[in-house]
Amino acid sequence: MQTSNFSKSSVVSHSERGNGGKSSYRGNAGANFMRDVMLFGIENTKSTPQNFYFVDANEGSGTSRDVAKELGIIYTGLDLHGMVPTIQNDFTKDSITNKLSRPVEMVFTHPPYADMIQYSGSQWGNKILQTDTSNPTLTKEQFLEMSQVMLLNQREATRDGGLYATLIGDMRRKGEFWSFQADYQLMMPKSELISVAIKMQHNCQSNGRSYGGSFVPITHEYLLIWKKKAASLFAIGFETASQIQKKVGQTWRSVIRIAMMKLGKASLQEIYAEVEKVASHLIAKNQNWQAKIRQQLQLHFTNVERGVWAV
Ligand SMILES: C[S@@+](CC[C@H](N)C(=O)[O-])C[C@H]1O[C@@H](n2cnc3c(N)ncnc32)[C@H](O)[C@@H]1O
Repeated sequence: MQTSNFSKSSVVSHSERGNGGKSSYRGNAGANFMRDVMLFGIENTKSTPQNFYFVDANEGSGTSRDVAKELGIIYTGLDLHGMVPTIQNDFTKDSITNKLSRPVEMVFTHPPYADMIQYSGSQWGNKILQTDTSNPTLTKEQFLEMSQVMLLNQREATRDGGLYATLIGDMRRKGEFWSFQADYQLMMPKSELISVAIKMQHNCQSNGRSYGGSFVPITHEYLLIWKKKAASLFAIGFETASQIQKKVGQTWRSVIRIAMMKLGKASLQEIYAEVEKVASHLIAKNQNWQAKIRQQLQLHFTNVERGVWAV
């Protein structure tokens, strides 16, 4: 049997799309890449092509459907756009599990993000759908919230020991750099992540442009792969919540350290004022920010006199 290029290297580059799907469907993943994803799934779930069940929850033009047929594997294709034989499924509202006859070996997604390529109202249909993740009115936060539902939905449809994977890129908008893969990694259990691989992009529109200064064109996407352990969604919620809590706690600690490094020794009022200057984003998210600062001071700094703290 063929082997997956993702089993040989964490960077995979196909300059040719290969046969499958439609090259006219913008954002199509390419058959040579999808073959690597499926072969990786077969190898890492100790399956044979005949008992390997693969689900693509963003089937689009059907690239994965064509590759699954070529490899002889069991396959279901879902998409917001229910173009027959695709089964209509909105990953933000509909359970993937409910569309399948059994838990599967691998569930793959390739969600569109922000206004990169618009699907509803452009690639298909005549109006932009609210839950289409290419809806240009979505904020980054709304997109990320929908993405977490997508990932949990994928995971739920995966059998224990099976894989769930997503293909996602980075984006620059109005001087901001968004690396969604970094957010995705935080959303799901750290203990299930098994690979962060790179898919080189060829012929994407930005490749042809020239950029000045330090503006580096983005020419790759990330393939994130998790292996499902037997754990309930409740346990997942707890694990990811404590991962994130740790990160937020760390951020507060770092911010107060920066303020105290500058102040040396300071009263509580001076510390509040300094932290307000450097961390308005944290304060906006936490009504009890003054209590949070006092808690961090008690944990990590010295109370030299009443209401006065030092490094
Ligand atoms: C990048 S394209 C996938 C292309 C596909 N991999 C191919 O090779 O043709 C993303 C797909 O996600 C679908 N989509 C957008 N929002 C969705 C949602 N909420 N639920 C399910 N599919 C969605 C779009 O209709 C589009 O077909």
